Amino acid sequence: MAETPRRILLGVTGGIAAYKSPDVVRRLRERGAEVQVVMTPSAREFVAPLTFQAVSGREVRESLWDAAAEAAMGHIELARWAEAVLIAPATAEFLARLTHGRADDLLATLCLATTAPVFVAPAMNRAMWANPATQDNVKILQGRGITVLGPARGEQACGEVGEGRMLEPAEIAERLMQHLTCEPVLAGSRVVVSAGPTRERIDPVRYISNRSSGKMGYAVAQAAREAGADVVLVSGPVALTPPSGVHVVRVESAAEMHAAVLQAVNGADVYIGAAAVADYTPSVIHPQKLKKQADTLTLELVRAPDVLAEVAALRPRPFVVGFAAETEQLEAYARSKLERKALDLIAANLVGDETGFDRDDNALLLLWPGGQATLPQDSKLSLARQLVRRIALLRSPEQAPAGREALGGSLA
Ligand code: CTP
Repeated sequence: MAETPRRILLGVTGGIAAYKSPDVVRRLRERGAEVQVVMTPSAREFVAPLTFQAVSGREVRESLWDAAAEAAMGHIELARWAEAVLIAPATAEFLARLTHGRADDLLATLCLATTAPVFVAPAMNRAMWANPATQDNVKILQGRGITVLGPARGEQACGEVGEGRMLEPAEIAERLMQHLTCEPVLAGSRVVVSAGPTRERIDPVRYISNRSSGKMGYAVAQAAREAGADVVLVSGPVALTPPSGVHVVRVESAAEMHAAVLQAVNGADVYIGAAAVADYTPSVIHPQKLKKQADTLTLELVRAPDVLAEVAALRPRPFVVGFAAETEQLEAYARSKLERKALDLIAANLVGDETGFDRDDNALLLLWPGGQATLPQDSKLSLARQLVRRIALLRSPEQAPAGREALGGSLA
């Protein structure tokens, strides 16, 4: 929990979940925040401004054209006042307006004018949430660094059941505060992260690849950036928008990943190998498309460079973190990889049809020489933040701000 009060601007838009927003104010204030509520005109149809004034202890702002309120604190000043902007509930309409950068009411204008991090807690009917228009808007907003909290799945005000409910106020407050108390544990460090799959070409139209989506590596790059590091993200081919403020180097094959990583780690403090690099690559790349002939075809594959092991063998070398994706015997295989490749830390996860690939959440087992910690099922971004804190702690145990207990796990 944050000790210092945080200045949070809570935007309330016009959805039925607005009846829960006064509780969001209370939960934030319980955690030491100062909350300024800004309502859109349609939010007024659901909850009276007086309710928010009572729970926030501050006059509610509603209009760009309120001369008295503007004289006390103009809207640009209000945008600067906020250390974070939270929109809860965020309706489909408001998400669309935010995507388009509209400035036709006070809340939309504030979102455009603020440099503070923006969080949205969507709330809408499940079909509206699933609609490609909304999903595209959400992707664009995430690409711009806006954090989407939820939505939850369950029974909806309209009687339907599905994904679209606003997260509960306590969870919104908890997650927001977690983001805001993220400390710059890697400030001044240079971090290189590899992510995504590689593609090993067979001929001009075919390749061998794997199911890695790159989501974990991209989350790690974002978490390292949030923690104050200078981040280079060496990325295989993925369909993701890179986190803002991160330098991206795009590669395709294991050989290209190898070259790009070895160049980037020169002088780096930390290397996190989250990429699913091919272990084998075709011994020849056919210059023309292979034609079918016999009933069987044998491809000869040769070992690809092991990027992680090579980085770990450098002298001087960065702090080296590997990933292990296993389908069985998670701990035993991961510990043997940790030792064989002489790593400082390994993050292991089970993969299979139901887990791991292309999902937004996961669970990790962290192993390092002399200790381990289990990170239970959570979003990949939250796991990545915990991983980053663990890296900071292991690199300089005496300087890390978080207590060991706070991170869980055992230190031998
Ligand atoms: N890795 C790498 N270069 C490779 C293969 C893997 O840098 N050519 C890195 C991955 O980025 C990951 C770790 O090694 O951090 C785990 O790779 P994995 O292939 O699972 O481990 P291996 O040691 O190859 O063991 P095995 O294939 O037997 O599971």
